[in-house]
Amino acid sequence: MNTQKLESYVDNILVVDDTPDNLRLLSIMLSDKGYKVRGVINGEMALKAARSTPPDLILLDITMPQMNGYEVCQHLKADGRTSGIPVIFLSALNQVLDKVTAFAVGGVDYITKPFDLEEVLARVENQLTIQRLQKKMHEQNARLQDSEAKERQKSQQLELALQQLQNAQAQLIQSEKMSSLGNVVAGVAHEINNPISFIKGNLSPVREYTEDLLRLVQLYAEDFPNPTAAIQEQLEAMDLTFLRKDLPKLIASMSIGADRIEEIVQSLRNFSRLDEAELKAVDIHEGLESTLMILQHRLKDEAAQTIIKVVKEYEALPKIECYAGQMNQVFMNVLTNAIEALQSPIGWANDVDDSSPIPTITICTKLLSDFQVGIYITDNGRGITEDIQQRIFEPFFTTKKVGTGKGLGLSISYTIVVDDHGGQLRCFSIPDHGATLAIEIPIHQSKKGFYKEDWVGL
Ligand SMILES: Nc1ncnc2c1ncn2[C@@H]1O[C@H](COP(=O)(O)OP(=O)(O)O)[C@@H](O)[C@H]1O
Ligand SMILES: [Mg+2]
Repeated sequence: MNTQKLESYVDNILVVDDTPDNLRLLSIMLSDKGYKVRGVINGEMALKAARSTPPDLILLDITMPQMNGYEVCQHLKADGRTSGIPVIFLSALNQVLDKVTAFAVGGVDYITKPFDLEEVLARVENQLTIQRLQKKMHEQNARLQDSEAKERQKSQQLELALQQLQNAQAQLIQSEKMSSLGNVVAGVAHEINNPISFIKGNLSPVREYTEDLLRLVQLYAEDFPNPTAAIQEQLEAMDLTFLRKDLPKLIASMSIGADRIEEIVQSLRNFSRLDEAELKAVDIHEGLESTLMILQHRLKDEAAQTIIKVVKEYEALPKIECYAGQMNQVFMNVLTNAIEALQSPIGWANDVDDSSPIPTITICTKLLSDFQVGIYITDNGRGITEDIQQRIFEPFFTTKKVGTGKGLGLSISYTIVVDDHGGQLRCFSIPDHGATLAIEIPIHQSKKGFYKEDWVGL
């Protein structure tokens, strides 16, 4: 009969009946069929027995003194430990109302006395099979939920891995781009360096020689006031008086030009800092200045008809231990964004209203504590809305036209400031009034993590 039962498992049945004869009869019959049977004679004991060792099935008499079968069943159903146990009611009563009540309080079946043994066994086995199948279903459901959760977790892991890959790729692309820019800049700087040294070095002898020559000409003129016709002709053709006045000016302006080229070369070298791939204490202001120098043509862009004012509010700062080339890239990325925000169609640059403020970038540096400095780059451009602010550090996030923005500048800057220097890179903006990018970094890399919590800019 119990073919569906597991070999090792014996179903456990609790029989509750206040008539000892009934109890004995059912117990013997069920035990003979291989069930483990416990018998109790009242509701109180039934509840106790069911709670201490929950049976697989309860046969429950309805008419009992003190607590009747319905009440016992209600208690069983109200308790989480016993609510799942199927209850078959036993009763001599054979009224429709009782059956309805029996099902209403949670019974699953109903057997009337006197018992027909075959019927009792069939109903018991029925309920046990249902119970087993339900258990199996629950287990399978739980397994399914479990594997669903695992699948979900797996796909989350995949998503994360993908994101990390994208980040890594973005960094590769950007660092490749920046290092080739750095290489070009360093190469140009190096190539220009020698010729400009020649020019600069030779300028002062040139000045001396020309002065000597002019003095000699002067002496000739004084000693030979009546030159030959050929000399006279040459003197007039070359306009000696003008030449004498103009030549020193010319040499002076060549010297200014050479000095300027030398400064530019120095800035280019500062910017690329190829020789300084290692951590080194540097003057942050020097980095900012050389970056501004490189961006000079964009600050005064005649084609775009923009002149962007740069206001510097530098505080005296100690030297900052950092990867200078990388920090310059951060300045470059942030300043470029500020310039682009000021050049955008909604920006001030194209606003014809005279009352519009002058497009301005303010660079402010602050000593935040003994351990930390802040560099705040503010523009009065179109600003950044709240929802865009949430995303600006994501790789490939851009609001610029296809082909212009790559969406990498800020994500790379974030990696450099936060991951490589243990600092913070944050954005503050009032839409339509401008944006501030706050770069806060430790002064010493060994003091990473000493943050000043409050942002002091704006
Ligand atoms: N100063 C700023 N003003 C307004 N928007 C900005 C500013 N800086 C960054 N953003 C926004 O952040 C986005 C991401 O910047 P970035 O990572 O440098 O990529 P990209 O400049 O290539 O778009 C920009 O597309 C822009 O929407
Ligand atoms: Mg950018």
